[in-house]
Amino acid sequence: MPALGAGRVIGGILPGRTDGWSSNEGRVHSVAHLLPSRALHTLDDYLSTGGGEVLENCRRLGPDGVIDTIRASGLRGRGGGGFPTGFKWAGLAAADGAEKYAVMNAAEGEPGTFKDRAILRRNPYQVIEGLAAAAYAIDADTAFIGIKEKATGALARIEAATAELSAAGLIGSLSITIVPGADDYLFGEEKGLLEAIEGKDPLPRLYPPYVQGLFEQPGGEPRPALVNNVETLANVPHILANGADWFRSRGTAKSPGTVVCTVGGDTTKEGVAEIELGTPLGDVLDIVGGGMKDGGPPRVILNGVSNSPLTSRHLGVAVSFEGMKEAGSGLGSAGFTFYDDTVCPTQVAAAASAFLFRGSCGQCPSCKLGTEAVAERFAALAIGDGSPEAAEEIAAWTQRITDSNRCGLGAGQQAIAAGFLQQFPDDLAIHAGGAACGGRAISITTIADWDETVSRFEYSPRVLSDRPGG
Ligand SMILES: Cc1cc2nc3c(=O)[nH]c(=O)nc-3n(C[C@H](O)[C@H](O)[C@H](O)COP(=O)(O)O)c2cc1C
Ligand code: SF4
Repeated sequence: MPALGAGRVIGGILPGRTDGWSSNEGRVHSVAHLLPSRALHTLDDYLSTGGGEVLENCRRLGPDGVIDTIRASGLRGRGGGGFPTGFKWAGLAAADGAEKYAVMNAAEGEPGTFKDRAILRRNPYQVIEGLAAAAYAIDADTAFIGIKEKATGALARIEAATAELSAAGLIGSLSITIVPGADDYLFGEEKGLLEAIEGKDPLPRLYPPYVQGLFEQPGGEPRPALVNNVETLANVPHILANGADWFRSRGTAKSPGTVVCTVGGDTTKEGVAEIELGTPLGDVLDIVGGGMKDGGPPRVILNGVSNSPLTSRHLGVAVSFEGMKEAGSGLGSAGFTFYDDTVCPTQVAAAASAFLFRGSCGQCPSCKLGTEAVAERFAALAIGDGSPEAAEEIAAWTQRITDSNRCGLGAGQQAIAAGFLQQFPDDLAIHAGGAACGGRAISITTIADWDETVSRFEYSPRVLSDRPGG
């Protein structure tokens, strides 16, 4: 594995250090742009880095020029789906509507992920500027920010930065409302988020935000909404200032730029760092996590709970949209949890599927029944109480768990379940034979906080049932 600085991790917050770092290998512009070496506490701090020019750049380019630049940059959404941002903006700009809205998704509910809150703590100004550019591009006067009420640190930074930028006239007359939400997984699902912004439980509705936006009346005109993740928006002012080619000078052709990774679990250190897309997963483990605590290879690598798990065989896989896809997984929100060999893969499957079952709202029969059936079977297998047919039954559920679903949660359970069946067939067979393996029990919850001084995350307490609206 490469030594610090010789890999393609190009900067960010290195766990255990508070001064930040970078290894730009001679390319001045390749210093991490999303995670500055020190937190920017005031607007003056931000202006001293060259920030504060987003409106000027928007006016220079015009709405079409902004969209063309974002499209040319190849920026893809960092909220999990990887949808091309410029195309999304072009769709919203062309849509009819009495009014349009720009929405920032700062919910960060994926287990193993702390990157949005790290970005907001370090530099909330770039994110608010990105939101202002999105609103400008689609012709919206009103924006919303959805964030968990328990994320008090990030929430305070957003409030302060919004007030400062607004008072300085740097985001024009854009009206921004911050909507604090409950700790439901579905608060981060875009259709659930729009419901929450309207003051309801975050139960995903039928139509996507570009069809059914905010505050629409029956029979009234459409009011479409654009929803983007924090990290997606954070990239925008930098792209508008430096150009699409600058952004494409890092990363791969299909995954340009950087991604802010979270690394946790049985690693020497837990933390967040900005890496160049295309960096091998093993480098991310070594450089961000300091390797595994026990010095051995990881047994199970989870990338959130909605992507197929990986193993030590995948340490050479490129952390990029296409690299993760080729490995049968997905980039998701790049939150990697590494488990050592004291953990049994069946336990991890049980914990991940239980998280998704608890998060499902039960509006769609196949998701409601399927997430439960899969979680129950993995839980029984984990304690050596599974039927010999359990793996086959799980496989059968993966075929129909996504039928007619309103949102992607059921697809997450499909990916996790099918992935464990495929990657760990021998372990599951042992459990199906009535044996419990004695592996360390784990539970999967979200990250509540990051203590940078000791390089460890604090995890949210386990909840037995957190079905939204329940
Ligand atoms: C169950 C579920 C939970 C999600 N949670 C989040 C979240 O916490 N934050 C987020 O940005 N996107 C989340 N998403 C993805 C959003 O629905 C949406 O795709 C994203 O905010 C779009 O932004 P982007 O195009 O910038 O990635 C979730 C999706 C699903 C299906
Ligand atoms: S797919 Fe599942 S979580 Fe999503 S709306 Fe339907 S029941 Fe709820």
